[in-house]
Amino acid sequence: MNTLTLVHKYLRQFIRPGDCIIDATAGNGRDTQFLCELTGEAGRVLAFDIQPQAVENTKKRLTEHGWDGVGTVILDSHANMAQYARPGSVDCIVFNLGWLPGGDHSIFTHADSTIAAIQAGLELLRDGGLMCVSIYSGGASGYEERDALLEYVKTIDSKQYTVLTVQFSNRTGDPPIPVFITKSI
Ligand SMILES: C[S@@+](CC[C@H](N)C(=O)[O-])C[C@H]1O[C@@H](n2cnc3c(N)ncnc32)[C@H](O)[C@@H]1O
Repeated sequence: MNTLTLVHKYLRQFIRPGDCIIDATAGNGRDTQFLCELTGEAGRVLAFDIQPQAVENTKKRLTEHGWDGVGTVILDSHANMAQYARPGSVDCIVFNLGWLPGGDHSIFTHADSTIAAIQAGLELLRDGGLMCVSIYSGGASGYEERDALLEYVKTIDSKQYTVLTVQFSNRTGDPPIPVFITKSI
């Protein structure tokens, strides 16, 4: 079990056909495709990335697998996601932080825009909705984003949201940290 398999397991249980999902970090589109498969033809997946290469890769993947009618890929920062969905209308939001696999490792997610995006996303979630944030650290991206996010999530209003931060206690190095946030009903 690693962060990706844990998060995917949780998403498989949570997402229902027809759901409206946001993939906040499209990258090469693996997660976007996975989310389209879970939500199915009746659903809708909005995927964001700031890199044209990532947007192109994700569009290509969705087209090749027949999901281009469900997934929409947007070249914009996830910090602007509120411009693309109504408050309370989104079932699930997924962040897979870090850099584009196979891409330029000097371009990666940063604490300021990620926190702005999480704040925007929390407003977009419906009651009972779920946000999953996988925090990567080490290497070129360092620890600044991880440390800022781990502090930030402690400040999220506990009357409205439940925040679970998962620690892989018996792993060495910097295993990615999954954070699950649910909006109370
Ligand atoms: C680890 S990758 C995502 C992997 C992707 N989920 C997949 O399945 O291939 C992180 C992505 O976040 C993107 N990113 C960085 N800052 C961003 C921002 N402010 N808004 C949206 N995407 C951003 C990067 O360009 C990169 O493609």
